[in-house]
Order: sequence, then C-alpha cells, then structure tokens
Amino acid sequence: MTTTVVTTHAAGVTTLRLDRPSKKNALDGATYRALTDGVRAAGEDPAVRAIVITGSPEVFTSGNDLGDFARIRAGSGDLAAMDFLRALIACPKPLVAAVAGWAVGIGTTLLLHCDFVYAAPSARFRTPFVDLGLCPEAASTVLLPAIIGPRHAAEMLILGVTVDAPTALAWGLVNEVVDDPLARATEIAATIARRAPGATRTTRALLRRVTAADVDAAMAAEQVAFGERLLSAEAVEAATAMMTKRTPDFAKFT
Ligand code: COA
Repeated sequence: MTTTVVTTHAAGVTTLRLDRPSKKNALDGATYRALTDGVRAAGEDPAVRAIVITGSPEVFTSGNDLGDFARIRAGSGDLAAMDFLRALIACPKPLVAAVAGWAVGIGTTLLLHCDFVYAAPSARFRTPFVDLGLCPEAASTVLLPAIIGPRHAAEMLILGVTVDAPTALAWGLVNEVVDDPLARATEIAATIARRAPGATRTTRALLRRVTAADVDAAMAAEQVAFGERLLSAEAVEAATAMMTKRTPDFAKFT
C-alpha cells in the first residue's frame, strides 16, 4: 500500500510529511491512521523531543477527504479524524507545523493544537464547514476564538472566509511568514530538542491546562453536532451541488 505520510527522524525531531499529491493531501482514513500512529510513536519515544507536521511546497492539506464524508453518509466509513485529533491533544511533545499553500478544514483546525506554526507566503487558511452544511470540529469553537479573537473566528467559522498568510500573521494564527516554512519549523524543533526536555514538557502542560477542560467539552459537543450535520439534508445538498458543479440551494431549508 502506498504511504501518504512520510516519516523521518533527525536530531531528536520527528517529521511527518503529508504526501498524497493527487488529492491535494486530503486526509482519508489511511492518512489519518498513519498520522495518528506517527504522533503517538513520537510522543512515546524518549529520543524524540519535538514533532514537525508539514505538507508539500504546493499544498498543506485540502482537509478531510470529501469521499470519506460520502462513505460515512452511505454507512460504510468512520471518522478516523477523531483518533488523530485525540492523539494530537494527548501528545506530550511540542508540535511545530510548516504550512505552504492551502490548509482547508481540519488542515487549519489541526494547527490550533500545534505549539508553533510557520507559513509560506502562499499559505491560505479556510474552514468551509458551513459551506458544506457542516459545523466546526477539533475544538476549534474554543481554540480559534482564543487564538485569533471571537470576531475573526466568526469570519472564519461562520462565513468561511479565506485567510491569506499576511492576515494569518496579523491575526496570530501563525508565528511567522517565511519563504521556507519547513526549514524554519525544523530549526525551531531542533532548538526545542536541545533545550531542557522536562522543563519544556512542564511549561507546555501548564500552558495547555488553562484550556484543557474546555477543549475536551468542545470536542465532545462538536463531535455529536458534526455527526448530525454530516447526515443532514443541508450537507447532502452541499455535496450534491459540489459533485454536479452547481451552486448549492439552501433557500429551501428552514
Ligand atoms: N477530498 C478529496 N479529494 C480532494 C479534496 C478533498 N478534500 N480536495 C481536493 N481533492 C481532489 C480533487 O477532487 C481533484 O481530484 P481529481 O483530479 O481526481 O478530480 C484533485 O484533488 C485536485 O483538486 P483541485 O480542486 O483540482 O485542486 P485546486 O488546486 O484547483 O484546488 C483546493 C485546491 C484545496 C482549493 C480544492 O481542491 C478544494 O477546495 N478542495 C476541497 C476542500 C474541502 O472542502 N475540504 C473539506 C473541508 S471540511
């Protein structure tokens, strides 16, 4: 089976690189499982002190595989995304993301669980959940307002606006915009790997303690709502419109 996540290790840093170019690095079940395994293994390996998550120079990820949404609707799929998100949340090591090109849906919301995010000038962030008849996930209803403020979170989550790299920097969604975000993320991860590991872990755990209960509650509420939305007539209308390349008609819904 072709792997869609390339894992490398160097100097205390594990790098997980999404590699599914034909689907713009869309996250299907196999990709989620590979990411989950990669994050868990790196989290447990005492030799690993930081984890870098990246995509390709052209695209970070187009988000959840839309075909998998359809398979879940047809009763033959599962939301492997949940396991991946739980692995990210439970990960005890610093997570550093490098983003170039599109980061759509969970491609943006997974970044909220990373400690550092470096973006290329080409990076674009979008959470089109409402466009798809869905609702936010990954505790983004708590973390996005906390990170970029409630007004900008409403623009992203309710209006589905596209956020370009300079705006993402101005809003605090990313740490820096740099020409080579993977090189910068790797440099930061290597710096972390040279620093006191216990002090780093403790500091990180203390930083996360503040939102931990809210993140858990949001994950649980969003998961229920997302499952319902996925089966809703609005989501079916959005998916059908996308497949037949027409504008969705939401006028008929109350
Ligand atoms: N799931 C499954 N396949 C996807 C995908 C996704 N999320 N995103 C892109 N693809 C596939 C396309 O269907 C296309 O496949 P094909 O060549 O077999 O027809 C291929 O990847 C290339 O996509 P394309 O749309 O032509 O690339 P683009 O560069 O013009 O646009 C995006 C890139 C990311 C803006 C666009 O693909 C997109 O909006 N994708 C959907 C994103 C989305 O809604 N994600 C879910 C969020 S919850």
